[in-house]
Amino acid sequence: MATATASSLDVAPLGLDQSFGAMVSGLTREQLREEPIRKALFDLWIDKGVILFRGDTSAEMHVELSRCFGELEPHPFPESAEPGLPELVKIKYYPEDGTCYDVGGEQRGGWLPWHSDLIYTDRINRGGILRPVQLPQELGHTGFIDQIAAWDRLPQALKDRIEGLHIVYVVDMDFSRHPFVHSGEVRCLRMAKSGTAIARRMWTYPRVVHPAVFTQAETGRKVLNVSPGFAEGILEMGGPDGDVLLREVIAHCTEPATAHFHQWRQGDMVLWDNWRVLHCATGVPTEQTRVMQRTTIKGDYALGRKLDGAAATDFDV
Ligand SMILES: [Fe+2]
Repeated sequence: MATATASSLDVAPLGLDQSFGAMVSGLTREQLREEPIRKALFDLWIDKGVILFRGDTSAEMHVELSRCFGELEPHPFPESAEPGLPELVKIKYYPEDGTCYDVGGEQRGGWLPWHSDLIYTDRINRGGILRPVQLPQELGHTGFIDQIAAWDRLPQALKDRIEGLHIVYVVDMDFSRHPFVHSGEVRCLRMAKSGTAIARRMWTYPRVVHPAVFTQAETGRKVLNVSPGFAEGILEMGGPDGDVLLREVIAHCTEPATAHFHQWRQGDMVLWDNWRVLHCATGVPTEQTRVMQRTTIKGDYALGRKLDGAAATDFDV
C-alpha cells in the first residue's frame, strides 16, 4: 500500500469565508497512523479553527481522531461523562430530562449561549470533537464564531480599551443568570438532573480570570478571548462602566451575520479550537431528543488564573 501523504487529504472550504473552517471528507483510521497526515490535520486546525469531518464517524474514529490533536482529558464534572467511556462527554436533551429555557419567547431544550468550554476553570481545554448520536427532527444546530476575525473587525477604539484587561468567569449551570449571554430575555424553565447536581456545589469552584485578548502562539494572530457564557465582568472595571464595555465588545463579536451554524447530519464530526472559537447550541423543540458525544482535547495556554484563595496571591494585574 502506498504511504499516505498530506496531499491525499480531501479538504474543501466550510463556507464562503475561506479564512475560517474547512471540511475533510473520507478520512480513514489507517490514514491517522501516518505522521504526515496527523501533522497536516493539526496544521489545518490551527489555520482554520473548525474542521467538519465527513466519513467514518464510529466512536473508535472519534477518539482516535481526537488524539491527533492532543491528549484527551475527562470532564471536571463527573455528571457529564458517558458511562464506561471516560474520554467522551455526553451532551443530551430528553423531553423528560434536560435543561429548558425560554429564549426571547421560544422554548428550547438544551439551549446553550455563546461560550468557550471550561472557561470557568484556569486551564481551558485546547479543543474538542463533537459527534451526533441521536439528532432531533428540527434545530439542534451548533454555532461557531471565529475570535481571530472578531478581533480583526473590532473598532480600533474598542481594541484599545479591551486589550490588557481580564475577564472574570464563574461556574453557574443556569444560563439565565449569566449577565452577558443574550440581548433578550432568557428564563430557565427546567434544569437537567445533572445540572442540578453540579449547581449544588457551584460555590466550591473558585472564580477564574482570563485575558480578554491573547496571541495565537503558532501564528502570531490576536484572538479576542471573551466568552459571554460564564462571564461575570471585567476584573479591572468591576462597575457599570466595565459592564457597558464588555457588552459592547460581546455585541460586536457575536454579530449573527459572522457566525457559522452547522446543521448536523449522521456521519458528521466537528472539531474546533476552543482557544479561538466561540460556540453555541440553538437547542431543540422541548418535546424532541438530541444526544451528542464530545471529546475534550487537553492543553493549557497558561494565561488563566484562579481569582479566589491562595492561588490568587501570585496574580499580578
Ligand atoms: Fe460547549
